[in-house]
Amino acid sequence: MSAFYREKVLSVQHWTDTLFSFRATRDSGFRFQNGQFAMIGLEVDGRPLLRAYSMASANHEEELEFFSIKVQDGPLTSKLQKIREGDTILVGRKATGTLITDNLIPGKRLMLLSTGTGLAPFASLIKDPEVYDRYDQILLVHGCRQVSELAYGEELVAKLRDDELFGPLLSEKLFYYPTVTREPFRNRGRITDLITSNQLFADLHQGPLDIETDRIMMCGSPAMLEELKQLFETRGFKEGSGNTPGHFVIEKAFVER
Ligand code: A2P
Repeated sequence: MSAFYREKVLSVQHWTDTLFSFRATRDSGFRFQNGQFAMIGLEVDGRPLLRAYSMASANHEEELEFFSIKVQDGPLTSKLQKIREGDTILVGRKATGTLITDNLIPGKRLMLLSTGTGLAPFASLIKDPEVYDRYDQILLVHGCRQVSELAYGEELVAKLRDDELFGPLLSEKLFYYPTVTREPFRNRGRITDLITSNQLFADLHQGPLDIETDRIMMCGSPAMLEELKQLFETRGFKEGSGNTPGHFVIEKAFVER
């Protein structure tokens, strides 16, 4: 048995010069937990060329969705950005990753903190009805340099708000907070600063960080993750893993250089 499924690209959407998303068929045998990633890619010169990608689709969906950067000289994304409907992609059979609710101690407010394509695993998690069962509030924070980079997330949330099943859940529990660092926008600043200054909580009319109730998942640039980890650890929060649930879990967003 091959280590990969061969899936067909169903649609591709380009969001900016550096961001695109695509949907593909999903083998009925491919199982994953919302928030996990798999190795995906293309066959290049007869060999698989793969990178870790979070599923942006939820595990109840029939199709797969991925959200990717485009790097002009990136070994995979220079090619992957050119895929079209009908092309074949490879999807590794095994999904894995730490951004799953079982790795967190039970809590009341779930904070999903992301930059760039680090949004992808949270796109999956906010389509998981169980997440809304487990938490009273879900904060989806997405930080980008430019406003245009928010488009994928904005559309995702807008579609879910219109959805028959998710609409009511979102209006009750989901607080979406996009923020931009390098041009004017209604929310501005780095996620780290927005948390330390309490601006994030003030803008959302919510209470400050509270170790008793707050659980955190983060995915994004390594520098941001390192700073957030320190910020939370100095306040007593502990990192969780598959063996020991904690107050927060971390995953690096895929970068290709
Ligand atoms: P900034 O514009 O101030 O660098 P990138 O495109 O470099 O991955 O960055 C995505 C977003 O993450 C940007 O808004 C960027 O802000 C922010 N960012 C980068 N480094 C950090 C960090 N160490 N802590 C918090 N946010 C960061």
